[in-house]
Amino acid sequence: MIRINKKITAIVVVCVLIALANTYAQVKGHDDAPPKNLKVLPPNMSGDDLHKIMRTYALSLGVHCNFCHAAQQGSDKPKMDFASDEKPEKDIARGMIRMVDSINHMIDGIGNNKLEHITCVSCHNGTTKPIVSVDSLVKKDHQ
Ligand code: HEC
Ligand code: HEC
Repeated sequence: MIRINKKITAIVVVCVLIALANTYAQVKGHDDAPPKNLKVLPPNMSGDDLHKIMRTYALSLGVHCNFCHAAQQGSDKPKMDFASDEKPEKDIARGMIRMVDSINHMIDGIGNNKLEHITCVSCHNGTTKPIVSVDSLVKKDHQ
């Protein structure tokens, strides 16, 4: 029993280390200062939660951070200026966040809490151009 516990402890420790290394790799090079230009998301949101949301946006659209965020002016290394509103895509994304919020409010009123909420990936499906025509659906065998 004790031996198994030791094994489990060792496995947990390794998992935690991997998780920490991952997090470090993902936030490395980012400015960890609190966000200063949130106009739609809760302004007091933690940097950690914000990064999780941002990674979800990037995955949902199949892009990298620089699709919405501008690079810092005058730096030779590609460092991002996340607070900058220079890129129009960032403001489009703000509009999309508001839209998704109001769609979900409407869904609450329609579905007696039985319908799933929607997120960016519901429409974007991993690309910047959402599917808008049934013609672009993958043909299924049984059709
Ligand atoms: C689809 C567009 C989009 C993508 C992709 C995206 N972001 Fe964002 N990001 C935004 C928007 C919009 C805001 C501002 C939200 C608001 O105004 O409430 C923001 C805000 C931020 C902020 C806060 C800046 C400040 O000081 O106010 C950080 C940090 C950030 N993003 C990091 C990232 C990182 C890291 C990635 C890549 C993993 C990323 N973003 C990818 C749209 C995007
Ligand atoms: C109800 C469907 C729908 C949802 C949900 C949705 N979008 Fe969109 N989005 C669209 C459509 C439609 C376009 C326009 C595509 C085009 O230009 O052809 C678009 C375009 C965009 C663009 C501009 C892309 C470009 O090429 O310039 C960004 C950025 C974006 N969406 C971000 C988001 C984010 C972030 C979310 C989640 C908060 C989101 N969208 C959720 C439908 C949606």
